[in-house]
Amino acid sequence: MVEDAYVLCEDGRIAATGRMRDLPAGLGELDELDGRGLVAIPGLVDCHTHACFAGDRVDEFALRAAGATYEELHAAGGGILSTVRATRAAGEEVLTAAARRHRGWMLRAGTTTFEAKSGYGLDHDTELAQLRAVRAAGGIPTWLGAHAVPPEFADPDSYLHFALAEVLPEAAPLAEAADAFLELGAFDAAQARRYLTACADAGLALRLHGDQFTEQGAVPLAIELGARSVDHLEATGEKGIRAVAGSDVTGVLLPASALFLGRPMPPARALVDAGAAVALATDFNPGSAFCESLPLVCSLAATQLHLSPGEALTACTVNAAHVLGRADRKGRIVPGYDADLVLLDAPDWRYLAYHLGHDHVAAVLLAGERAELG
Ligand code: NIG
Ligand code: FE
Repeated sequence: MVEDAYVLCEDGRIAATGRMRDLPAGLGELDELDGRGLVAIPGLVDCHTHACFAGDRVDEFALRAAGATYEELHAAGGGILSTVRATRAAGEEVLTAAARRHRGWMLRAGTTTFEAKSGYGLDHDTELAQLRAVRAAGGIPTWLGAHAVPPEFADPDSYLHFALAEVLPEAAPLAEAADAFLELGAFDAAQARRYLTACADAGLALRLHGDQFTEQGAVPLAIELGARSVDHLEATGEKGIRAVAGSDVTGVLLPASALFLGRPMPPARALVDAGAAVALATDFNPGSAFCESLPLVCSLAATQLHLSPGEALTACTVNAAHVLGRADRKGRIVPGYDADLVLLDAPDWRYLAYHLGHDHVAAVLLAGERAELG
């Protein structure tokens, strides 16, 4: 914490920080943003979203409220596959507009860097359109080609054969990472290994949706393949906790998804205490987490995951930047880093987690420029 601080930005980067009284003289013409009464934190980094989709799942939301489960809806051809139908029907222009609208929501909540996955196309044209739309909206695209088996394929293996032969060659240059959903009813460990290994060979970094509902070997697979992260972990037990802690794989925790589905929270405290690196993300998507707010996720981290406000802020700034391969440029207020900053209208930065559901964001700087929050 630096009181009465300045952050000097130049050419989109942070040039210097310090106390106002130590601000060097003779800096010449400056554009000044008066932060008196506000708190500057690093721009938030959302390292796990599904922000490129069409349609919604509000009908399923109402069914779930009346007792249907997420897994039942999925098994009945709803869930992810209902968003696949809407996304395939939308076309690239509509998808790009949707990704941009969602990016605006995230920006208003203080997110200056976001990842977004494909996985609602599951055919050649729509998967590639999603990846391009994410990029056009300023996001970091991840190819989630192994999200679900689309209805035109009889089984996961024949779908994967198609995806790796027909989509991967064009997805690899568009995406930075690949991701797979390793779960009963989606892909098993052998199928996820096959998909991710081919993606790694094509130069993509690896992520993995694992242990969301049941433990199906996601943690050992992520470690074996040198994945950047294993995400969800709501069902992870003692052994998995120790394995993540002893590895270089970051555990990405998504408490808004656990809340939205009424599922157990991930074992965040045990992971951190065992020495694991954890990141926090929203999982923003229309089915399991219709929530773009990292400040709300920080509140959940403090109240449900037993992380301190400082651990929560670290987890959705510098640790999340690490998951996205940008820990040298994003997520910290230090010279040389991108000048992505959020100014909070709060008397103490911990209000970010403390004031539940409140919008504190007074201003957002992207590469030193004030963003239009709409
Ligand atoms: O991370 N678990 C799989 N995928 C997403 C949900 C996607 C959806 O329901 O549309 C998740 O929760
Ligand atoms: Fe997800």
